[in-house]
Amino acid sequence: MAVGIFDSGLGGLTVLSALEKRLPDVPFVYFADSAHAPYGVRDADDIYNLTCTAVERLWEEGCDLIILACNTASAAALRRMQDGWIPRDKRVLGVFVPLIEALTERRWGDNSPPREVEVKHVALFATPATVASRAFQRELAFRAIGVDVETQACGGVVDAIEDGDMILAEALVRSHVDALKRKMPDPQAAVLGCTHYPIMQDIFQDALGADVEVFSQPNLVADSLADYLERHPKMKGHSGEAKFLTTGDPRRVSSGATRFMRRAITFEQA
Ligand code: SIN
Repeated sequence: MAVGIFDSGLGGLTVLSALEKRLPDVPFVYFADSAHAPYGVRDADDIYNLTCTAVERLWEEGCDLIILACNTASAAALRRMQDGWIPRDKRVLGVFVPLIEALTERRWGDNSPPREVEVKHVALFATPATVASRAFQRELAFRAIGVDVETQACGGVVDAIEDGDMILAEALVRSHVDALKRKMPDPQAAVLGCTHYPIMQDIFQDALGADVEVFSQPNLVADSLADYLERHPKMKGHSGEAKFLTTGDPRRVSSGATRFMRRAITFEQA
């Protein structure tokens, strides 16, 4: 069985790359819904319908376990999908829970009641749709109490990264960090709640200052999936090359992905 990785575009490749390093024996199928990216500016119904279509396509590829690397899809569609739409023999996992478990220092799958945690002021940087969903705060409240979350919708950053305009991306990140700091001058931790932002992690860290702990998803999601596969060995695959599917123009997406990841990546038409 292959594990499906879904993202609206190229950002999920940061998660795939961490997964490939952590789990070299697991075959992955990466699905980029490039024709409809970015998701972060779409409404919740739209995001839900697009995500369901992509997940069905990954099921056709034999992926009984799928990770929604796209934070926007995890935030706006996952709960609704898990509410009876996903067949019992399939699993669809999001990317917020591993992040929140790391932030609150809880072990994977610890379902004990919410409790006080050390970190009290958290900055969340995410797409407008992820911020609007309040999914991060909802998931956090299942695990921790007394944490103040300030959000910053980082309009434009995903587009700038997908276009390879890193100068614009950096300027936008710095202005979004400034805007956040005007609302919360003393964050202890910052969460990069979008697959694209790990590419800009050094810029976030520099703009936030060295005292702020920056939580970014790729390694956390990889550790969490490794844990999950230990607990569910029947979901484990056998070695194989990753396959890349896109709803966009495969040539254009492949060249963007190759530039983005600094390695040759070839997408096929989904
Ligand atoms: C987007 O599609 O807007 C970004 C992907 C994400 O939220 O991780």
